[in-house]
Amino acid sequence: MSDIGLFEAIHSTRAIRHFRPDPVPHELIAKILDAAIQAPSAGNNQNWLFVVVTGADQRQKLGDIYRRASLWVREKYASNPHPAHIEPAQYRKMWSGGVYLHERMGDAPVLLLPCLRVIAPMLPDDIPAEIRARMTAAAPWTAGASIYPAVQNIILACRALGLGTVLTTNHTILEAEVKQVLGLPDDVRTFALMPIGYTDDKFGGVRRRPLSEVAVIDRYGSPWPN
Ligand SMILES: Cc1cc2nc3c(=O)[nH]c(=O)nc-3n(C[C@H](O)[C@H](O)[C@H](O)COP(=O)(O)O)c2cc1C
Repeated sequence: MSDIGLFEAIHSTRAIRHFRPDPVPHELIAKILDAAIQAPSAGNNQNWLFVVVTGADQRQKLGDIYRRASLWVREKYASNPHPAHIEPAQYRKMWSGGVYLHERMGDAPVLLLPCLRVIAPMLPDDIPAEIRARMTAAAPWTAGASIYPAVQNIILACRALGLGTVLTTNHTILEAEVKQVLGLPDDVRTFALMPIGYTDDKFGGVRRRPLSEVAVIDRYGSPWPN
């Protein structure tokens, strides 16, 4: 287990898509889940459910769904220009890692699905209809905002424990099949499919656009000074 500080973990965490087959000890999975449930959620509702899949049969079923869903995503990426800020070599590396995982998701020793019970907001009549409509329209954002902080805690906890992971969402195209494999009730939605395991890949080497391009001060058009 590594003993690293928070900022070192943040700066050296990157998408890991190659995993050794070695099992991940139960105590470490528990530690990761315990980090997940420290996250905030709207109204502190904690309507989350973390599905941990370690059985080989179940992993292969999910892996097959992820592979089929990813074929569509591959078509999308193949026809879109790649982002200007990513160097071609870096993009090729991400692409080949992505395609590798399309085929091998089910081989990761742990598949973790952070889920959320999505409950339609109950809005009293004394809130004006126009505001109720806006609150309803905002509900999908609020839902995601109540599970992705937990997902980030999972990513950082994995890094701290020397485990690799990556947030993936391709499976959502075939989510109904995923829910059937896992026996999930209708109101529970899956927000990520995260392979977790030991890796021979190196952490670090993350490249991001500079703050001056992505942050502003006081108002749009006034870039954050470097
Ligand atoms: C919302 C979201 C969805 C993602 N979906 C996938 C996915 O389906 N498959 C995959 O391999 N990576 C997926 N990723 C991982 C991104 O490709 C990765 O975080 C990004 O390329 C940065 O990688 P780096 O940290 O190694 O630089 C997703 C990331 C996010 C935030």
